[in-house]
Amino acid sequence: MTATGTHERLISTSALVIGTGGAGLRAAIELAERGVQVLAVGKRRKHDAHTTLAAGGINAALGTMDPEDSWQQHAADTLRESYFLADPHIVEIVAKNAARGIEDLDRWGMPFAREADGRISQRFFGAHLYRRTAYAGDYTGLEIQRTLLRRAQELQVPINDSVYITRLLVGDGKIFGAYGFDIVDGTPVVIHADAVILAAGGHTRIWRNTSSRRDENTGDSFRLAALAGARIRDAELVQFHPSGILEPADAAGLLVSEAARGEGGILRNALGERFMEKYDPERMELSTRDRVALASYTEIIEGRGTTNGGVYLDVSHLPREQILEKLPRVYRNLIDLQMLDITTTPIEIAPTAHYSMGGVWVSAEEHATGVDGLYAIGEAASGLHGANRLGGNSLIELLVYGRLTGGDAAEYITGLTTVNRDPAAVAEARGEMQQLLTGTGEESPRLLQRQLRNIMTEHVGVVRSEEGLTAGLVKLNELEARVKNLTAHPDIAGFDDLAHAFDLYGSMLAARATIESALARKETRGAHNRSDFPEQSDEYRGNMVWSPGLGVTFEPASEAPDSFRALAEQQIDDSPVGKLAE
Ligand code: FUM
Repeated sequence: MTATGTHERLISTSALVIGTGGAGLRAAIELAERGVQVLAVGKRRKHDAHTTLAAGGINAALGTMDPEDSWQQHAADTLRESYFLADPHIVEIVAKNAARGIEDLDRWGMPFAREADGRISQRFFGAHLYRRTAYAGDYTGLEIQRTLLRRAQELQVPINDSVYITRLLVGDGKIFGAYGFDIVDGTPVVIHADAVILAAGGHTRIWRNTSSRRDENTGDSFRLAALAGARIRDAELVQFHPSGILEPADAAGLLVSEAARGEGGILRNALGERFMEKYDPERMELSTRDRVALASYTEIIEGRGTTNGGVYLDVSHLPREQILEKLPRVYRNLIDLQMLDITTTPIEIAPTAHYSMGGVWVSAEEHATGVDGLYAIGEAASGLHGANRLGGNSLIELLVYGRLTGGDAAEYITGLTTVNRDPAAVAEARGEMQQLLTGTGEESPRLLQRQLRNIMTEHVGVVRSEEGLTAGLVKLNELEARVKNLTAHPDIAGFDDLAHAFDLYGSMLAARATIESALARKETRGAHNRSDFPEQSDEYRGNMVWSPGLGVTFEPASEAPDSFRALAEQQIDDSPVGKLAE
């Protein structure tokens, strides 16, 4: 019985997966196929997980369109575009296992786009040498989520998508479960588990313009892992996608897929100038994401943007049928949200916080976190993307490490001989939740979330500086003092406000990790632009690893194996001809 008079529910499982998007589902499927009892929990409806928003495609060197493609070339493209910050071993594992990821989806009925002869179609995506992005219109993530859910249902994997996890439970350095509550009725939940796989996403919702919707990617996974003893790697490396919509305010940042530029979309500033001519005259709109985002940002900041603070992305010169077939979601979103017909009118866009390239520190082989029995996968993890992620690599990462990590967790559980359940860990988690429910502080989670997003947008955006980051840190400290007076007010509709409070806790920790790591990285590399350190520096070729209290330590990057190092270092022909276009 808790202080608020509610009974705690006790659940036991062998493996607990936190997060019911693509990574979590793939891991749960692997565990179930190996006969290991698994429970998957999540805080949003499983049919609407963040994975469903992933648009343009999923990468694997299948060679269906360009037979000369190879896993080595995929690895080389990924490493080079990460600005050599990715963990080469992780890159190798993803590139080598990518084809298997597509085969699994295909076997489970994923409706990939196909050529007339039945081959899976593959399109160009930015900075890939060959066409290696498989897709389903611009609904690829949605179809992957549906496919994985179907398979999980066949295997009778229990999925509870109204459980919010507030703490991981650790006894003597070993995970023994998690604590949380039911978002609908508020029942506190203790889950005993021998292994936990964290697949709860990243932290991009802590910016004002973001391609994440409300209440997703709020940094929960960073906090859960860090408080359990894991570390956060490269929190400062956040991908700003060039094209997020600006209006309406509650959808600001929603993505206009890279496929729009791939199909021939043109970027113009408010003066009508095709500004990519100045920034990357060869690749133009088909340049890499970090470069296009920085170019748009520069146009806006230097006064050549629209009055709303954007630039234009125009596809209206393309045949209407092409738009409807290749960009159905972009077409529909703009009609729904702005009553704007993209077949006739340019779209106003600006950079949007899109992807956490950093995340929980994990080992390359199995994505173990250093805490026995705790794993992290998907956007919650780090190591594949470095300072610039190739579009389409995140979806394949889910498939590859969902399978491999699920397999490793199964072996870990099978070999486990002792379990350490620490009542003090449960009591701490319980006390934290009760304090939020019974406290008398007058601060409200939603209002403070907005304050935090303002701080991150103003001080930790596309371009950063020592002065701006330090000012951001001061404001974050002030906000932290207010967070101490936070009280959650669940009402007759449910316990959403308690979820918002814990989201805020996660976001605050993620913001601190981001700002402290951004201050430590005194260079410009990929998505991390420092106006006071505009050059890339060899001294910083490595990772910023952060823990609460201890702050940042630097770990030099390892060298890539010979199998793809030379390819990655080779100057390739970056001609835009055909890039991104099918
Ligand atoms: O623009 C896009 O379709 C995004 C794809 C990705 O981030 O992988």
